[in-house]
Amino acid sequence: MCGIIGYVGQREAYPLLVSGLEKVEYRGYDSVGICTADDTLHLLKEVGRVEQFKNHLLPGTMGIAHSRWATHGGVCQKNAHPFIVREKFTLVHNGIIENYLELKEQLRGRGDVFSSDTDSEVILHLIAQNFKTDLLSAVRQTVHALRGAYAFAVMAKGNSEIVAARNGCPLVIGVGNGEHFLASDVAAFIEHTKNVIYVNDFEIARVTKETVKISDFEGRGIIPKQREIFWNVEQAQKQGYPHFMLKEIMEQPLTMEETLHVPLPALPTPKRMIIVACGTASYAGLVGKYVIEKVARIPVVHETASEFRYKEPLFLPGDLVILISQSGETADTLAAARLAKEHNVNTLGIVNVVESTIAREVDDVIYTRAGPEIGVASTKAFTAQLIALYKLAYHFAGKEFTGKKVVLLTEQVLQLREEIKKIAERYVNNQHFLYIGRNIFYPLALEGALKLKEISYIHAEAYPAGELKHGPIALISEEMPTIALCLESETYDKMFSNIQEIKARKGKVIAFASEGDAKIKEICDDVVYLPKVDELLSPLLVAIPLQLFAYTVALLKGCDIDKPRNLAKSVTVE
Ligand code: M6R
Repeated sequence: MCGIIGYVGQREAYPLLVSGLEKVEYRGYDSVGICTADDTLHLLKEVGRVEQFKNHLLPGTMGIAHSRWATHGGVCQKNAHPFIVREKFTLVHNGIIENYLELKEQLRGRGDVFSSDTDSEVILHLIAQNFKTDLLSAVRQTVHALRGAYAFAVMAKGNSEIVAARNGCPLVIGVGNGEHFLASDVAAFIEHTKNVIYVNDFEIARVTKETVKISDFEGRGIIPKQREIFWNVEQAQKQGYPHFMLKEIMEQPLTMEETLHVPLPALPTPKRMIIVACGTASYAGLVGKYVIEKVARIPVVHETASEFRYKEPLFLPGDLVILISQSGETADTLAAARLAKEHNVNTLGIVNVVESTIAREVDDVIYTRAGPEIGVASTKAFTAQLIALYKLAYHFAGKEFTGKKVVLLTEQVLQLREEIKKIAERYVNNQHFLYIGRNIFYPLALEGALKLKEISYIHAEAYPAGELKHGPIALISEEMPTIALCLESETYDKMFSNIQEIKARKGKVIAFASEGDAKIKEICDDVVYLPKVDELLSPLLVAIPLQLFAYTVALLKGCDIDKPRNLAKSVTVE
């Protein structure tokens, strides 16, 4: 969480930093700040979004900038980055310094005065204290004192370099002509250069307008590997849509089709799989469990990464741990990958962001081809993850997954937008929703409820429909509508009975059903009909109207859809 950027070159740094901040703002958007340098430092930082900086200008051809998601210290101007210490050093940081309190105590004991409540400011005080004549040496000395996760960038007045260090948070350098960028994400500078150098954990980069020098924390030089990024600027723009989320929903026929063609690594058939992920990726994993067990008849354990990493998991010979992540940077999922590796268990990543940390650390990777996903609510990454999991299941069953037909049907499902809008208008004022499904539809109920709560701030809970009688049915009233996923399936009759039980208690029901199901219309208040497909493939179609429903409700409520409150796109801290 938090986005950092730096620029050193021949152009005015400020406009480049502002436009870069707009691209990484999805990582955190509580407050924003920029420090540029000529022969002195110029600072601007405020609570709120980067938008407010557009009509300003700070002088200088180098600078650093930050978009914050608060961890330590409230959301206020003094806690916004960059920090300046001794009127000479300035820093931006993404991550958490776990031992900051003890470091702060020591620094205070030596007379340092702090201007913020953040952990980040401690790094800068340490650098200032360690500085003799060389910024790089001061940073190298400092990193040995830090415990935690970080990517930070620091500049010193009168010095024409940016020094940046990484341990556990993303950091990438953009190589231009007589200029260099650094950032948490290539999106920050992709319009200026596609040539990049990924900085690894325990590495420090010293960047001037002409050179990039990388060394490890012990000072040993490392030859930087330069690569070319293949995605383009347009993919990271709204292209006429009012929100990234809507654009990303509408792109799904294409991104699913693209992911159908990804090659699978040559994997031996595991005896058991453990799928680990967070949030939406975790719900994709739960669909994956149903599909793999049904198609390949191999047992799958499904785990939430934040729980898995602390439970001393039992690994068995022949296990394969599958990590699913859009960003490839989620802290808990990454920790799970590392835990599996410590136990010498094979790891496979299903990751969207190429060269992200998880992608680089796992033994094998399947890249989903969803393209850049900017909206905080994950949509096209979810359906791409599903496609990758179907492909994997069929691969382990010795068959080929041909999902072409169902992917074509997603175009038809997207046409339901107007119909879904009419339904959303009828329910927008409800404060609570229940989502139910059985079997493979249960993870979709979870995903639908997550989408609604994260962007519209409406309370939504998901249950396996069979669980209703064990408690949740007590909630049913006219004020608590239920979204029932009742498509043609082995459990259709059971779902139908559950819906009747809700109706008998005056609950309103919006059903997602299969085309031609006339009897469901007779008992439900609203029905969204979807094309008939095999039950196993239905998640690929159901996901889309659930996303559209959440999007439309949030739109009608006037919510900030692409940047919902309290959230950030990549959760890079625990
Ligand atoms: O980048 P990841 O896929 O690892 O992210 C996992 C979750 O943080 C993410 O899916 C989150 O739940 C989304 N905001 C859901 O829309």
